Amino acid sequence: MGRMSDLPPDRAPGAGLLSPLTIRGVTLRHRIVMSPMCQYSAEEGLGNDWHLVHLGSRAVGGAALVVVEATAVTRDGRISPADLGIWSDEHVEPLAGIQLAHAGRKASTAPPWQGGHPLPTPEAGGWPVVGASPLPFSPGGPVPAPLDEAGLDAVVDAFAAAARRALTAGFRVIEIHAAHGYLLHQFLSPLSNHRQDRYGGSLENRMRLLLRVAERLRVVSPTELPLFVRLSATDWAEGGWEIEQAVELAKRLKEVGVDLIDVSSGGTLPKVSIPVAPGYQVPFARRIRHEAGLLTGAVGMITEPEQADAIIRNGDADLVFLARELLRDPYWPFRAQRELGSTPALPVQYGRAR
Ligand SMILES: Cc1cc2nc3c(=O)[nH]c(=O)nc-3n(C[C@H](O)[C@H](O)[C@H](O)COP(=O)(O)O)c2cc1C
Repeated sequence: MGRMSDLPPDRAPGAGLLSPLTIRGVTLRHRIVMSPMCQYSAEEGLGNDWHLVHLGSRAVGGAALVVVEATAVTRDGRISPADLGIWSDEHVEPLAGIQLAHAGRKASTAPPWQGGHPLPTPEAGGWPVVGASPLPFSPGGPVPAPLDEAGLDAVVDAFAAAARRALTAGFRVIEIHAAHGYLLHQFLSPLSNHRQDRYGGSLENRMRLLLRVAERLRVVSPTELPLFVRLSATDWAEGGWEIEQAVELAKRLKEVGVDLIDVSSGGTLPKVSIPVAPGYQVPFARRIRHEAGLLTGAVGMITEPEQADAIIRNGDADLVFLARELLRDPYWPFRAQRELGSTPALPVQYGRAR
């Protein structure tokens, strides 16, 4: 709590959902962010009209920042064959914010509406998967090939190359996806990482890969642009990754120049019991914000303007990320502005609808 007095006024308790926030050289006009959401609608990683309209609708709907879905830094880092990718220069197209991702052992699956099951063979559209240790995500699922030192260097290089392409494409915010049981989280969690080299065992070793990626991306990104990391704060499982470790990790990420932790949870194990309820992950964002002393984003079952406003006013988080509520209502930011007693900041082209 003591750190709060060090924060500038726009980050102190009291500033609400509709107040602006400046992170490095980027000013968000309020605190409402569209959370990254895979659309499983790309071919060979390339964005198309669907992505343009889907993301454009939320930008026109008034979100302060639209984060593009998990975008694979390597071809084999895609969750499914229909994921967006940024592994080659062909993927450089101006699309805001982008989440860079590698799915690791959770790669090579069918899109959710085709069952989401592992794709067993190249004929079925699948590919061999990599991970921290030869432990499948689900029983009978593909056994990942453990990455060796050269493989890990290649992953760090792939994130750096992807970040360069994203910057060339005009993205102003980069988020590293280190949550939901994907590759970087697979290294963090003792449940998916049984390595005995310098990437496994102690917390220091399990954090090493993500810290290397974050360090490289900070170097690649201009100093005026923010770097976010999405973390799972807990695996919701005995013996797994948990909030105390996430706080330590956040302190280290702050040291390498990460600006904000986008705080989610889960994803390491297929079947765990998660106490899902409105704002259920907010306490994790609060702990990381206060104990690690850096900006946080809250996500998960945030659907009401008053609720979102209280999260910012109470100093639980600095941004709210909305996912499904923005699928239901792309114009939610205008509703929030109205309900919180402000004038909806409609685009000038829509002025006659005021
Ligand atoms: C269709 C869909 C796709 C998603 N894809 C991603 C993703 O690409 N990256 C990610 O970090 N989270 C992803 N998520 C999780 C959301 O970003 C968010 O954390 C989660 O849905 C909880 O927020 P909500 O209650 O506002 O929906 C996805 C969620 C949905 C519904």
